[in-house]
Amino acid sequence: MGRRRTRRGLIGKVAILLALGAGAVSAGAVAWAWETAIPPQPRPAADGFAPELVAEGARLAAVGNCIACHTVPGGRSFAGGLALPTPFGTIHSTNITPDEETGIGRWSEAAFTRAMRRGVDREGRHLYPAFPYDHYTRVGDADNRALYAYLMTRSPVRAEAPANDLPFPLNIRMAVAGWKLLYFREGAFTPDPAKPEVWNRGAYLAEGLGHCGACHSPRNALGAVDEDRAWAGGEAEGWTAYPINEHSPAPVPWTADSLTFYLRHGWHPAHGVSRGPMAEVTGNLAGLPDADVAAIAAYVADRMGPPSAERQRRGEDLQALVPRLTAEAGTPPGSSLSAADSLNRPPAAGSEGAPSRADERGEAIYRTTCATCHESGRPLPFGGLPFALSTAVNASTPQNIVNVTLFGLPPGDGTVSAVMPAFGGALSDADMVALLRFLRGRFSEQPPWDGLERLVADTRSGAHHVAVRPADGIERAPRNVGATD
Ligand code: HEC
Ligand code: HEC
Ligand code: HEC
Repeated sequence: MGRRRTRRGLIGKVAILLALGAGAVSAGAVAWAWETAIPPQPRPAADGFAPELVAEGARLAAVGNCIACHTVPGGRSFAGGLALPTPFGTIHSTNITPDEETGIGRWSEAAFTRAMRRGVDREGRHLYPAFPYDHYTRVGDADNRALYAYLMTRSPVRAEAPANDLPFPLNIRMAVAGWKLLYFREGAFTPDPAKPEVWNRGAYLAEGLGHCGACHSPRNALGAVDEDRAWAGGEAEGWTAYPINEHSPAPVPWTADSLTFYLRHGWHPAHGVSRGPMAEVTGNLAGLPDADVAAIAAYVADRMGPPSAERQRRGEDLQALVPRLTAEAGTPPGSSLSAADSLNRPPAAGSEGAPSRADERGEAIYRTTCATCHESGRPLPFGGLPFALSTAVNASTPQNIVNVTLFGLPPGDGTVSAVMPAFGGALSDADMVALLRFLRGRFSEQPPWDGLERLVADTRSGAHHVAVRPADGIERAPRNVGATD
């Protein structure tokens, strides 16, 4: 995985896009190439929108997570300017407040709907798919109207987005026409009449505004989602977005109920807290009616499908490890340690007989640094999950456990959240590698991870940029819950 390969890959992509963009332009006939400008209009008066419509728009904007991409941390909401790193270069989000000069104040509803549906700005220029219009295209007119009403009633902020940093020819928007030709399918969501209404509602929200697939799907060399591999696991802001289809690596199989709980509260007793970019997603879903969250969960559970008998059985065994509140709320049940020991695998993958020195080192670090919290039996969300339950330990890449261990879970700003100290300062790269090898061998049945040295070094140095955020959910945590399933 040398730098050379990355480079060559990039040049290859650039060449293809150039050819496509040029082809799209010269062919002239291609529908995507030219879009007309929609004339500017005076900014609509904020009091011209019905308050219920604005309130609905607020909920929908939360599902769409518009604020996350369109706001610089600490900056004015929706004023844009956030740098989004892509494999091709940096793209900045734009100002979507109703400022007339630098925002969308002079956009008609038709221009807004076209941007959501076709990824085109008011003047007819193609927008980069870093704006997830490949998902938003499924949003219906009524919901776009509500979103428009919501955005048009925000306070206008004067703010110009910084210029994008993209190599030629990707810096030419016409190249996006070629991309759309290949990968973009415009179209509002069509319900499947064979499926129950709740499934269709869930599909509409998850595949459209919720754009779950934008993070949870692998992308091809041109940054497009391959439909066959939708939801098979992707990448977001330096985190792995685990597969949420039949390949889910969660040790305890997810169910519609556990997904509802996790999406609603930002954590689950048998699955841990939502972190990184997912913390924002669950935080935003808090504004949705229960029925909508349950619909998304029902749809996701259906896409995951029923677990194999073997996975189901193991999941049931693992339930013994789920830390629960006992009758005297907050008292550690104490039983979880012995249960953990009986379920943990015998030491160290691949090493028959006596554990090696490296394994011993990893185990020693685990015992002294992690077990105090992760075997405390203290219930979630404040306690640490026993690692045999952790998707991070069982996932095909160690990226998320590396992120959590190096950077911890910082406290929330003005909210109460699960907090974990950062161990980046205390553990050397060699310590990290020994620890991770031990955790993987001890708490999962998956094969050892490759390339740990490199991944730890790159993540620590920032070569692999990781967005560190507080975990979600705690303020909304219901009290006195045990494992729901
Ligand atoms: C994953 C990040 C991301 C999310 C989420 C996101 N956007 Fe954007 N959006 C962008 C980027 C980046 C651009 C600029 C694209 C470009 O310059 O080609 C953009 C551009 C736009 C534009 C065009 C503005 C202009 O001046 O050309 C509109 C309108 C817009 N977004 C609305 C929304 C709405 C509404 C939502 C929520 C439903 C949303 N965006 C969510 C990243 C995002
Ligand atoms: C901005 C990117 C992003 C979006 C959008 C997103 N996710 Fe996630 N999701 C992630 C990341 C990253 C993780 C892993 C976080 C962690 O380590 O806890 C994750 C974790 C999860 C998990 C936990 C999986 C497990 O086994 O632990 C579930 C379930 C999930 N997401 C469902 C969804 C659903 C449903 C949607 C759409 C409504 C969605 N996500 C949208 C990035 C995203
Ligand atoms: C002071 C208590 C504390 C210590 C010490 C601690 N953690 Fe955590 N950790 C937490 C809490 C709280 C969470 C959030 C709940 C959860 O998801 O497990 C967490 C979450 C995690 C997760 C995510 C688990 C999941 O899938 O949800 C990982 C991985 C993790 N910690 C690794 C470590 C490692 C490795 C160490 C030792 C180097 C460690 N932690 C030490 C408190 C701690």
